[in-house]
Amino acid sequence: MTAGGPSIQDDPQWWRQAVVYQIYPRSFADANGDGVGDLPGILARVGHLRELGVDAVWLSPFYPSALADGGYDVDDYRDVDPRLGTLADADALFSALHANGIRVIVDLVPNHTSNRHAWFRAAIAAGRDSPERARYIFRDGRGAAGELPPNDWPSHFGASAWSRIVEPDGVLGQWYLHLFAPEQPDLNWDHPDVHADFENTIRFWADRGVDGFRVDVAHALKKDLSEPYRDEVTIGVMDEYPLDGSHPLIDRDDVHEIYRSWRKVFDEYSPPRVAVAEATVPAPRRALYATEEELGQAFNFDLLEAPWDARRFRSIIQENLSISADTGSSSTWTLSNHDVVRHATRYGLPRGTDLDAWLLTDGATPPLDRERGLRRARAAVLLLLALPGSTYLYQGEELGLHEVADLPREVLQDPIWKRDGGSRKGRDGCRVPLPWAPDGPSFGFGAKAPHLPQPSWFGSVAVEGQRGDASSTLQLYRAAIRERRALLAPERLDWLPGDDSVLAFERPGGWMSVTNFGQEPIALPPGRLVLSSVDLEGELLPGDATAWLVREQG
Ligand code: NOJ
Repeated sequence: MTAGGPSIQDDPQWWRQAVVYQIYPRSFADANGDGVGDLPGILARVGHLRELGVDAVWLSPFYPSALADGGYDVDDYRDVDPRLGTLADADALFSALHANGIRVIVDLVPNHTSNRHAWFRAAIAAGRDSPERARYIFRDGRGAAGELPPNDWPSHFGASAWSRIVEPDGVLGQWYLHLFAPEQPDLNWDHPDVHADFENTIRFWADRGVDGFRVDVAHALKKDLSEPYRDEVTIGVMDEYPLDGSHPLIDRDDVHEIYRSWRKVFDEYSPPRVAVAEATVPAPRRALYATEEELGQAFNFDLLEAPWDARRFRSIIQENLSISADTGSSSTWTLSNHDVVRHATRYGLPRGTDLDAWLLTDGATPPLDRERGLRRARAAVLLLLALPGSTYLYQGEELGLHEVADLPREVLQDPIWKRDGGSRKGRDGCRVPLPWAPDGPSFGFGAKAPHLPQPSWFGSVAVEGQRGDASSTLQLYRAAIRERRALLAPERLDWLPGDDSVLAFERPGGWMSVTNFGQEPIALPPGRLVLSSVDLEGELLPGDATAWLVREQG
C-alpha cells in the first residue's frame, strides 16, 4: 500500500463502472532503451496512471512473440517476452498497480497460438493424423496433388485463411486454418487439451494476482468444418453475420460452453476474476457473451464505429443500456483502441471518409481538421464518462493524440499492410510510442529511437507539457475521471429534452450531461457547472462541446 494512497477493496462488482485504460506495452514506455516499450517502463509510469485516476489497466499481450501481429501471435501464454521483461517484472508491476488502487486485466488469446508455439512446432514435426496435429485444424488440399486450399475462406488480414506446410519429409503437405495471419494457426476447440491448457493459463495469471481477462476474438473459437464446406463465407463484416449462430466460423452457439466453464474457474477466486469479451458480432448476439454465467462483460464497439451524430449516439446508448439490463451485465463504452484510427482524427475528417483510403494518402486527402477533431473528442469523452457502465480508454487519448497517418511504408509492421498487397496501411498509426517529454530522441519514451517513428508534433502534446496546463486534454481527463465518482450508482439515466443535435441526460442525484453535436450554441439547463470540454461564456454551450452540471437543491 502506498501511504495515503487508494486501496483496492474486495468489491466483486468493481468492473461494472470502472474506467479501464488500455496499455499497448510495446508503445507505452521503454525502460531499457532498446526502442521497444516494456514492463519496467510501465512500472516507472504508474504515477501517470494514478494521477489519471483509472480503476484498472488492460495490458495488451506482453508474452513471447515474433510480432507477426503485434503480440497477438503468442509463443507461450505463461511467460513474458524477454524484450519486455521477466515474470518477476510482471509481478512487480502488478503489485505496484495494486498498491496504487489500480486493477490489472491481461489479454487472453485463445483462438490461435503463434506458429512458434511448442504445440504447433510439434504438430508440424509429428506428421499427418498425429495427436499433435489434432490440436489445430489441418486438412488436405484440393486438386490432384492437394495444391489448392481446402476451400475459399478468406482471412481477416486478406488472402486465404489456409496455408500449406512443408511436411517433415520435406514435401509440401497439408493445409492449416488461420483466420488471421499465417503465423497465427487456429486452435481446435473440440480438443480437450486446448480447454485444459487455457484453464491452466487463466489460473497461472489469476494466481499471480491478475484481476481479469480480455478475451481476444471471443466469438470465433468454435468452428463447423463439416463437409461440404460452406462457400460465400464473409469474414470481418459484422453486418453480414447471421443472428442465429449458423455461420461456420463466427459466433456459433457452442462457443458459449467454453465461457460457462471459464466462469467456474473465475469464481474459484475471491473476488471472482472478471472478463470482457472482444466479440465483434451484432449487439443482441454480443450480449450472450456478457451474461453472469459467462464472461460478464463484452466490448461494445458501436460508438467507436459511429459518426459524430447525436441521434446515432442516442440510439446506440439506448440499445446497449437495455441489453445490459436484460443480461445483468453493465455496458462498456469505448472510442479508440489499438485496432482503429484514433477518434480525435475520425471526428476531424468529413463524415463518411474511407479511413483506409485516407491513410493511403498519408493523411493528405481529405484534409484533417485537427482542431475540430480534438474538440469533438473532448466532448465525446465527457459524454462517455457520464454514462452508466464502464469506459475503456486507449493510451494516448488522454493527450488528445491524433493518428500518425504519414508513417512511411517501409516502417509499417501491421500484417494487414503486408498481406493485403499494400491496399491498406493498417493499424500502426495508432500504435506509435507515446510522447512523455517535449523533446529528446523519443520524446521521453526511451533512450533511443522508438520502434515506430514519432512525428515532430508529438513534442507539443507530450505528457510533461500538458501536466501543468489547466486547459489541456490531460487535465480534462483527470478532472472528469475524478468527478465521475459521484455519478456511479445507481446505473440509470433519464433523457432530457433537446433538439436533434443535442444529447442531454440526467443521472440519479441531479447530475446532467449535455452534449451539443451541432454548431449553434444552445442554452444549458439551470444547475451548477461541474466541468466542460470547452471554456463557457455564460449559460450557453457552443457546438461540439459537453458540459456537466448538477441541479441545485431547493
Ligand atoms: C483482435 C486484436 O485486437 C487484434 O489486434 C488482433 O490482430 C486480432 N484480434 C487477432 O488476434
